[in-house]
Amino acid sequence: MKFKDKRILVTGGSSGIGFATGRRLLERQARLVISGRRQGVLNEAVTGLSEFGEVAGVCADIATSEGRAETLKQTISILGGLDVLVNNAGGIRAGSIQDLEESEIIKMLDVNLLAPILLTKVALPALRAGGDSMVVNISSALALVGIPFYTVYAAAKAGLAQFGECLRRELKGEGVHVMTVYPGGTDTPLMKTSNAGPALGFTLEKTDTVAEAIITGMKDDAFTVIRAGEQRREMIALNRTDPAQLGAHFAKLKDALAVAVKDHAAL
Ligand SMILES: NC(=O)c1ccc[n+]([C@@H]2O[C@H](COP(=O)([O-])OP(=O)(O)OC[C@H]3O[C@@H](n4cnc5c(N)ncnc54)[C@H](OP(=O)(O)O)[C@@H]3O)[C@@H](O)[C@H]2O)c1
Repeated sequence: MKFKDKRILVTGGSSGIGFATGRRLLERQARLVISGRRQGVLNEAVTGLSEFGEVAGVCADIATSEGRAETLKQTISILGGLDVLVNNAGGIRAGSIQDLEESEIIKMLDVNLLAPILLTKVALPALRAGGDSMVVNISSALALVGIPFYTVYAAAKAGLAQFGECLRRELKGEGVHVMTVYPGGTDTPLMKTSNAGPALGFTLEKTDTVAEAIITGMKDDAFTVIRAGEQRREMIALNRTDPAQLGAHFAKLKDALAVAVKDHAAL
């Protein structure tokens, strides 16, 4: 894909991976709308990004149908159409399945799975009209290897990844490409409340490095972008060849992991 003059919506572009990706899209002369729920954070992000190009913000909750409708309506009105939808907004709550509140489970499925599916559905007519369009779904490396205490988040992200694969094949030849991104641990506000470090298999990559990989993937019309540290890559490979060995590995870490991630929440 060529970025110049492309009309792009990055949901959750007011922070972290979305913000860093938005900056790079502006540097490549795309026209950008970012979204988020907190008006103050969104305003600051728009101000920060505006030195790189043409950007506007839409304040709405994409986990609601009204919020999705408002996000799309305002985006199309600002940009005059839509060529790229980056389904980036997401949220997390770690914890044993028994400890997760039903409301937290529903919120995680809403923002990470249902919202991107429904937003993509309503955005498709606009995306098709462009003729050289793309949907970028930000999944997670946890969709490739299941880790205790991330059951629901991983389920949502794996669902999003599979949605993307089916959709890419469904839309082949219709001018809308679909790419799935699997970030590993990335140094953003979403990870601030996790205390799991390298000893437990969690390393943090720089946000800029992940954003750069997303841009390269978009440029190349890649199917997937996988960002996982060496340790996580080994786990992903072992999960295919010897999942029981990985299970034994996690059994040893389980108690320490439970303590390290018990407060990990950003919903
Ligand atoms: N950081 C990691 O280690 C990591 C790893 C794998 C995958 N990911 C995924 O990468 C994506 C970006 O996460 P990040 O790490 O960059 O987190 P982040 O810095 O916390 O950014 C999340 C963004 O999403 C917005 N957002 C959250 N819920 C929203 C909603 N209901 N409606 C509209 N906007 C919403 C947030 O703004 P408001 O709060 O103001 O709404 C914020 O702009 C997420 O999908 C996340 O699951 C992250």
